[in-house]
Amino acid sequence: MPVYLVLIGLPGAGKGTQAALLSKQHGLAHVSSGDLFRDNIKRQTPLGQQVEAILKRGDLVPDDVTIAMVRDRLKNPECARGAVLDGFPRTPAQAKALEAMLTELGGRVNLVPYIQVSEPVLVERLTGRWTCKGPGQHVYHLKFNPPKAAGVCDVDGTELFQRPDDREETVKNRIAEYVAKTSPLIEHYRSLGLLVEINGDQAIEPVTAQLLAAVAGAK
Ligand code: AP5
Repeated sequence: MPVYLVLIGLPGAGKGTQAALLSKQHGLAHVSSGDLFRDNIKRQTPLGQQVEAILKRGDLVPDDVTIAMVRDRLKNPECARGAVLDGFPRTPAQAKALEAMLTELGGRVNLVPYIQVSEPVLVERLTGRWTCKGPGQHVYHLKFNPPKAAGVCDVDGTELFQRPDDREETVKNRIAEYVAKTSPLIEHYRSLGLLVEINGDQAIEPVTAQLLAAVAGAK
């Protein structure tokens, strides 16, 4: 039976960083809705052109567009063993759609780790984040997780850049969007007994250790 882990947390909480580590450890696909959108924007596909301005503002992409994109990805054979979902679902409608998709795929949401980080820490993490231009979109931080050579990805050697939505003003809007639209999911998953709270105000390794313990405990 495939396994599906849903990471939730505010922008900059470390979802992408931890999803990459968890998916590797458990042999699952890493499905990041933000990475899928950014890849489409980079390739200037019709979807990319449709969502580019929305991401720049830090608003959420409409549910129907997001759900269709994630559904396609989850049906891909790469996701046959399951996936670590990062950034999806982000609204109650997306959570409902996910449940239906996973039923079709013969699985269910197994665990929802909620990575909690205080707001000043988030802003420092986002403003110091650098991402690679390669297809893996590997993530670094100038202070907390620097690359070996300045400005270059350790994994694929591509140049690093700062995401346009990491400007302080846009970050504030992304946080407001999360509070308004995504925070209801916390109670939803808590009521289903799937939520596990993770203290994200620590270095990357101790956060990973908490996540691995939570996943092991859920099996
Ligand atoms: P998305 O890419 O999902 O952005 P996000 O949720 O705002 O999350 P981030 O990627 O900013 O942060 P993260 O939690 O992954 O942190 P990271 O690991 O990088 O979405 C972007 C946009 O796409 C949205 O605004 C929206 O427009 C659209 N979108 C996406 N999904 C959507 C959906 N479902 N519905 C509608 N629209 C959607 O870490 C941040 C930094 O901190 C890095 O530099 C990292 O190295 C560092 N770091 C990580 N952990 C630690 C630690 N423990 N200690 C110190 N540093 C750390």
